[in-house]
Amino acid sequence: MGTPGLGATPQPATPSGAWMSFADEVSGTLAGLAEAFARDAEAVRDRAGWEALRVAWLGKKRGQIRVLMERIKEIAPDQRRAYGQGVNQLKGRIEAGLEAIDQRLVAAEQAAKRESSRIDVTLPGRAPRLGSLHPVTRVIRLIEGIFAELGYSVADGPEIEDDRHNFALLNFPPDHPARDTQDTLFVDGGLLLRTHTSPVQIRTMLARSAPPIRIICHGRVYRNDNDIRHSPMFHQVECLAVDEGISLGDLKGTLEAFCQRLFSPETQVRLRPSYFPFTEPSAEVDVTCSACRGTGCATCSGTGWMEILGAGMVDPRVLSGCGIDPGRYSGFAFGLGLDRVAMIRYGIPNIRMLFEGDERLLRQVRG
Ligand code: PHE
Repeated sequence: MGTPGLGATPQPATPSGAWMSFADEVSGTLAGLAEAFARDAEAVRDRAGWEALRVAWLGKKRGQIRVLMERIKEIAPDQRRAYGQGVNQLKGRIEAGLEAIDQRLVAAEQAAKRESSRIDVTLPGRAPRLGSLHPVTRVIRLIEGIFAELGYSVADGPEIEDDRHNFALLNFPPDHPARDTQDTLFVDGGLLLRTHTSPVQIRTMLARSAPPIRIICHGRVYRNDNDIRHSPMFHQVECLAVDEGISLGDLKGTLEAFCQRLFSPETQVRLRPSYFPFTEPSAEVDVTCSACRGTGCATCSGTGWMEILGAGMVDPRVLSGCGIDPGRYSGFAFGLGLDRVAMIRYGIPNIRMLFEGDERLLRQVRG
């Protein structure tokens, strides 16, 4: 926008050279300025342009109207009134012009806003992303459901344990080599991170006045171990039944009922002799591979069997250590890794994938 100039500054007419009256001269100049304003006004396209136009014409310091007003000193006193009226008239036209542009801009801005916020009601809706349960949580819920039907309740215990509950009362004598198999992580104050859920067996038996006891417990356990199949933190579930007349047959029957519900109705269970300080006899429990149904595949390393459980009859010394008469009562216990079950069930190749928090894993696990 060109700054309007005062090319023909009104000068007081002199008696000698004046062929045009002062009034004509002034009004001609003001009319020229009005035309210049109209041209500039037409070029305004946006707020910034409008503001520049306003400053150029009505600006308090260097605006055109201000300059014209200051020049009133140069006008002969008897002409000042007419001059002032002329300038005021011009000012009025400029103000009206600016107002008109302002209204035009406001209308354009509102139209643009309406356009940009238009909603196309024919577009398909956007479905919200649904959360889903972690594979280990799914397995826990499944197992809780199975045992609830078998009449078991859920017990709980601390993750930070002492030697007495994690080892001593489970019949691990001090310095016994079985302690080495647990790769214990110790914490300050003579405490440790529980290496298995078996201390909850102890806590439950100590807390109950008398059998029958039928509980499962599950939760995080910790061992100093880390590879594709082992993580320093993993999950176990433990089952304990103590009552009069409980036999190895009850253990095997319960294991079959449980594994057939957990994997499939055709699942077979096999017990191999093993050793745990807190059970006697002890067994490693294998189930027929759920991927190949026993013919041999990568999941079961070609054997047709998956080793998933540790089990046994509760050692009489454990019962008596917890104040339960082993002459009257007997019991069985078993424990298994939940992460392993989740990996088998959902075809997850590496245990670490369970704990990386990658949402893509959760999106693939259903049911
Ligand atoms: N606590 C054992 C382990 O973590 C598993 C187990 C539980 C074995 C109950 C027998 C009975 O290795």
